[in-house]
Amino acid sequence: MGDRITIKSAADIEAMRHVCILAAETLKRAGEMVKAGITTEDINTFVHQYTIDAGAIPAPLNYKGFPKSVCTSVNDVVCHGIPSRKIVLRDGDIVNIDVTTIVAGFHGDTSKTFAVGKITERAQRLIDDTEECLRRGIAVVKPGARVRDIGEAIEKYAAPLGYGIVRDYTGHGIGRIFHEAPQIPHYRFTSGPNPRLVQGMIFTIEPMINLGSHETELDAEDGWTVYTADGSLSAQCEHTVLVTETGVDVLTSWDLLT
Ligand code: MF3
Ligand code: CO
Ligand code: CO
Repeated sequence: MGDRITIKSAADIEAMRHVCILAAETLKRAGEMVKAGITTEDINTFVHQYTIDAGAIPAPLNYKGFPKSVCTSVNDVVCHGIPSRKIVLRDGDIVNIDVTTIVAGFHGDTSKTFAVGKITERAQRLIDDTEECLRRGIAVVKPGARVRDIGEAIEKYAAPLGYGIVRDYTGHGIGRIFHEAPQIPHYRFTSGPNPRLVQGMIFTIEPMINLGSHETELDAEDGWTVYTADGSLSAQCEHTVLVTETGVDVLTSWDLLT
C-alpha cells in the first residue's frame, strides 16, 4: 500500500474516468451472466477475456500472488473469493463480483452483489441495505469532510439494523497504485489516521456487511478467501469516487454507461 495520499492531476483524473467506466461496464456484463448452474470460473473467464479484448489488464491476476482475474465471493465469503470450476452457483445464492481494471497504468475498482435466481427476502434486504450503506458513505464525501465521516454515516445506518460491519478490510486510495493511502474504514473509528478530504483525491468505498458478527476468518489453505467467522451471509458493493470542488463524482457509476 502506497502510504502517501496522492492528489490527482487533471490528466490523472481523465485516465481514472476512462478506466473506471471500463471496470463498471465489465462488472455490469459479468452480472448479466449470473444464473444457477454457471461456475465462478465462468465469471473469471468472461472478465479476463473482456478486459484483454478492451486492451486493458485485470488487476487481481498475480496481485500479491492472487491466481485469478476477478474476485467472486459467494454467500458467507466476505471478499477475495477465488474463482473455481468447483464453485457452482445455485438458486438462492448471492455472489459479489469485484472487478479491478488497469488502463494506462491507472486502476478502476468496483463491485456489486448479485442474486442467483430466487433468493430469500432476508438476503435481498442485506443486498439492498449494503447498497444503501455505500450511498450514504458516498453522500458525505466533499472537500473539508474527513475520512471518519464515511464510516460514521455507514455505521449510523447499519448498526441499528443489527448488521455486523466488517472492520478487517477497508476502502482505499487508488490510482497508479491498486491500494494506496488513505484507508477508508466503513465503521465508526476513534483512533488512527483521519485525514481531511481534498479536491483531487480518489479512493474506494466498499462496505462489507454481515447478517451476523463483523468478525472474519481467513482461509488458511488458500490464504485469500475471507469468510464470516460465524458463517453468516455477507454482501458488499464498491465504487471508486473522486473528491470534486463541491462534492463527489462516482467514477464507476452505471449511469455513465451507454
Ligand atoms: N478489488 C479488491 C478491493 O476492492 C481487492 C482484490 S485484491 C485481490 O480492494 F488480489 F484479491 F484481487
Ligand atoms: Co477496492
Ligand atoms: Co474491489
